[in-house]
Amino acid sequence: MSDNMSGVMTKFRLALIQLMVSPLKASNLRKVRTLVKEAASKGAKVVALPECYNSPYGTNYFPEYAEKIPGESTQVLSEVAKKHGVYLIGGSIPEEDGGKFYNTCTVFAPNGSMLLKYRKIHLFDIDVPGKITFHESETLSPGNTLCTFDTPYCKVGIGICYDMRFAELAQIYTKEGCQLLVYPGAFNMTTGPAHWELLQRARAVDNQVYVAAVSPSRNEKDSYVAWGHSSIVNPWGEVVANAGSDETIVYADIDLKYLSDIRQQIPIHKQKRPDLYSVQAVQD
Ligand SMILES: *[C@@H]1O[C@H](CO)[C@@H](O)[C@H](O)[C@H]1NC(C)=O
Ligand SMILES: *[C@@H]1O[C@H](CO)[C@@H](O)[C@H](O)[C@H]1NC(C)=O
Repeated sequence: MSDNMSGVMTKFRLALIQLMVSPLKASNLRKVRTLVKEAASKGAKVVALPECYNSPYGTNYFPEYAEKIPGESTQVLSEVAKKHGVYLIGGSIPEEDGGKFYNTCTVFAPNGSMLLKYRKIHLFDIDVPGKITFHESETLSPGNTLCTFDTPYCKVGIGICYDMRFAELAQIYTKEGCQLLVYPGAFNMTTGPAHWELLQRARAVDNQVYVAAVSPSRNEKDSYVAWGHSSIVNPWGEVVANAGSDETIVYADIDLKYLSDIRQQIPIHKQKRPDLYSVQAVQD
């Protein structure tokens, strides 16, 4: 791990845990303990879990698996973050608060304290005829607050799954100074092959940031079959880690010097822009 002149760490290892989620919450939580330990032993400083790591994915499961925060699952995150001294991005869990349900990501510091709680903003209500219909909003309420956290390496922004499709969220995070965006998510066998990697690469190139997306592994027997392919994309738009479909951990070294080199070579961040772009709409 290298230091630059100002003593700021310019490289750190990110691990994505592509966990095989089972219907048994206790077994999912046991896996969190062993897999975070493994990631930390390989030098990861920031570790991320997938969307719905403690519960099968589906609106019918959310009320049954939902927890208050703090609660059983976030307590485990706090303990393992502290035990292994890592920043732990806790994928997401169905959260219950005031009789409402949210799809919520919590992040823990290496001392075990909770840094943030992010509730998925853009709910997944889609209808592709004959292919996929899914209405998260039947059960879930949306969040309305973007969340970042600081590490000794860089600032990190959080989104969940469908949030990845909203380019402006990534832009706001970039303007806030984030150099890494992490999206726990679970695309399926229709949207996964079509858009999962494309969206990550698009967000990365648009903003010249690192983008990571963490999925559960694929289980053909699940009612919602996840695409998997947890991946890390660099600011040049290259996929530098990709998990395939099985349970595994993938790693990449996030290189902030490389990020700043890219920003110098193609200085879109310094580009002068009009305050308002005017549109000349020619009508026939
Ligand atoms: C734990 O770490 C966080 C983040 O570095 C810091 O803000 C917080 O004050 C620490 N809490 C304790 C109890 O040391
Ligand atoms: C994707 O998920 C939806 C919702 O569970 C399901 O209806 C659809 O069949 C899935 N598509 C594929 C190809 O797995």
